[in-house]
Amino acid sequence: MSETIAVYPGSFDPITYGHLDILSRGLELVDKIIVAVAHNIEKSALFTVEERKEMIVESINGNPNVIVDSFDGLLVDYVKKVNARFVIRGLRAMSDFEYEFQMASMNRNLNQNMDTIFMMTSKDYFFISSRTIKEVAGFGGCVSGFVPPPVEKRLKEKFFKK
Ligand code: PNS
Repeated sequence: MSETIAVYPGSFDPITYGHLDILSRGLELVDKIIVAVAHNIEKSALFTVEERKEMIVESINGNPNVIVDSFDGLLVDYVKKVNARFVIRGLRAMSDFEYEFQMASMNRNLNQNMDTIFMMTSKDYFFISSRTIKEVAGFGGCVSGFVPPPVEKRLKEKFFKK
């Protein structure tokens, strides 16, 4: 039997414990997850795509069922290229829903062979976002409860090592 592959796409600028929670719970549903960092032209990022990939690799503790990659262009094209059946996205609040619903509906229209699986972020992490992490870290606040140690280190280097 062939393995079931899901793509977990996002900006991951940087990866947080919220993302890692979705990732580990997603692995209970599928055999392999490809964490795919988007070259997102609309968003200005703090970390380069390479840095973001490195931080993800450093945070997954060599889990053999997780592959870290990046993609350009449409998500549906990438999903087809890697033979994935599902896309996984985390939902923190109702405010996430409209955008996610639009994106999943558009993706489904573009590729009927894929489905989006939405997972509710667990209660410990629903208030975490990469954006707020960067804001707190940028002002010297402690983010150790929200991101893994390698990410905390990189945030400090980015903001405070000149
Ligand atoms: O972590 P983010 O920034 O919410 O992730 C958004 C992402 C990267 C999943 C989304 O912007 C995306 O899929 N971009 C690739 C381009 C694409 O396929 N756009 C059409 C979506 S309707």
